Amino acid sequence: VYDGVVHLQNVREVLPKDCLANKEPTECFFPAELIKSIRTPMFILNSAYDSWQIRNVLVPVSSAPDKPWSICKDNIRNCNSTQIKVLDAFRNTMVGAFKVVEDKEDWGLFIDSCFTHCQSLYGISWNSEISPRLGNKVGN
Ligand SMILES: *[C@@H]1O[C@H](CO)[C@@H](O)[C@H](O)[C@H]1NC(C)=O
Repeated sequence: VYDGVVHLQNVREVLPKDCLANKEPTECFFPAELIKSIRTPMFILNSAYDSWQIRNVLVPVSSAPDKPWSICKDNIRNCNSTQIKVLDAFRNTMVGAFKVVEDKEDWGLFIDSCFTHCQSLYGISWNSEISPRLGNKVGN
């Protein structure tokens, strides 16, 4: 899908040159590569177990049409130990991609383990009694 986006929109022209020297344009289009060349300070907020990514990218119906994956993706508490290993590997890859942030001045990130997507858009997942908190601090 993203290979088509990169070619149709001809984004190669604006992708980081140092990435293009070693990798295919489509790989350079992904955040794990783009982040390396961003100099503007950013604050990254994402779940390590992003529900949309898990449902649509990591384990799409086309690659796992079986019921055990379906009930796991509906509610992460239904996942068996094998599936949890897959989800943890996904999390570890993502957290590993954020290593580059350690060397960036004035950047920050908040990566939690909620099985959610776009959590700051909704009061229930960002600013409520059940939203993530550090100590007693909430998102607002
Ligand atoms: C977990 O579910 C998957 C199917 O989604 C299955 O292949 C695997 O054997 C199951 N593992 C365990 C430990 O039950």
